[in-house]
Amino acid sequence: MATDAGDPIPRFPDGFLWGVSTSAHQIEGAAEERERSVWDVFTAEPGRVKDGSTAAVACDHYHRYREDVALLAGLGVDAYRFSISWPRVNSPGGLDFYDRLVDEVCAAGVRPVPTLFHWDLPAPLDWLRRDTAARFAEYVSVVAERLGDRVPKWITLNEPAEHTLLGHAIGAHAPGRQLLFDALPVAHHQLLAHGLAVQALRAAGASDIGIANSHGPTWPASAEPADVAAAGFYDLLLNRLFAEPVILGEYPDGTAELMPGDVAADLKVIAEPVDWYGVNYYAPTRVGAPGGADSEYGGLTLPAELPFSVREIEGRPRTDFGWPVVPEGLTELLTGFRDRYGDRLPPLVITENGCSYEGIDDQDRIAYLDAHVRALHTALESGVDVRGYFVWSLLDNFEWAEGYARRFGLVHVDYTTLERTPKASYHWFRDMLRAQG
Ligand code: NOJ
Repeated sequence: MATDAGDPIPRFPDGFLWGVSTSAHQIEGAAEERERSVWDVFTAEPGRVKDGSTAAVACDHYHRYREDVALLAGLGVDAYRFSISWPRVNSPGGLDFYDRLVDEVCAAGVRPVPTLFHWDLPAPLDWLRRDTAARFAEYVSVVAERLGDRVPKWITLNEPAEHTLLGHAIGAHAPGRQLLFDALPVAHHQLLAHGLAVQALRAAGASDIGIANSHGPTWPASAEPADVAAAGFYDLLLNRLFAEPVILGEYPDGTAELMPGDVAADLKVIAEPVDWYGVNYYAPTRVGAPGGADSEYGGLTLPAELPFSVREIEGRPRTDFGWPVVPEGLTELLTGFRDRYGDRLPPLVITENGCSYEGIDDQDRIAYLDAHVRALHTALESGVDVRGYFVWSLLDNFEWAEGYARRFGLVHVDYTTLERTPKASYHWFRDMLRAQG
């Protein structure tokens, strides 16, 4: 891949927050020491996960968190984004684990940044039901009361768009439903849960609250009106449906009518001001008119009934996942957000960016991260207010329906011995942070 690697990475502003991310279900293991989540149910069903694996052990972070926090400290990051497992908090001793983890992270001089929901819903609950939002706010209050004295920054939800689309519309993720557009209540109830969680966090004295969403530029497959319309629709689903209720207090383009309940009243809760908005960026998507048949993209089967189809982005290197490497897509995304929302856009944080590659001498990951950090700097230079950047992920981990086949970590995990080995990219990121000072 062509990069500017070798030239020093430009300096980011003082106070810019550098970090790494993980999530509970993907790293913790110790599944028998907590209630079941929808992901435990899903992975127990044959054929759901490509390599037939489950996250019952994963990286065994639950028992090895001290070693993992030492890796964080060695990296020299400012912050660690991890998630809190709601099913674990529901279980005896569960909150004690996060208490110990937060203490350990703070003692390492790293700021803990918990995500309160990263897809591992307690198995008895269901986002199709409105009361799940209220249950979420109760759980958030319990967590905030316990950890709020040490947690400086909170994330309510991770990628509600992907959880809705993959989990409830096309069934590739837990809970494995294929409801297509009947999944829209799942979107609304998660957004309501977000707003109620912001209220619960503020009531517990928390500040510095955000949400993390998946975003990427959407490129039409051609200038044909049908392709442009399909791309506009995909852009609405991915980039606007979950962002605009939070940022503007409105659903885009008439979609409010498709949502359940007293939508106007709920939007007031959903638009509870956030302190910043989190963007998870991996790649742009090229979208065209529906192709009349199911299609495969990035490990997913997209049903023919969807009003769009996803096309390959040609002429780009690809990660092991098959995702194209398009660093300037990050600049385009961020400047596009600024142009779209102007003064109403809260400060942004890149809450995830990364790639899957095999190997410990992972020069391709270094090239990917180097190019994306530069693309981020270009966005800052053009005036976009971005306050932080988190690499996905600290560790190789359980990559959902792909199982352990995709390795996103700066640290390699041997799933037989559970030994951790820092990769070349770990040393690269550490050196870059040192150079940033
Ligand atoms: C987004 C998700 O938040 C995370 O859980 C996942 O592992 C990465 N993307 C990579 O697919």
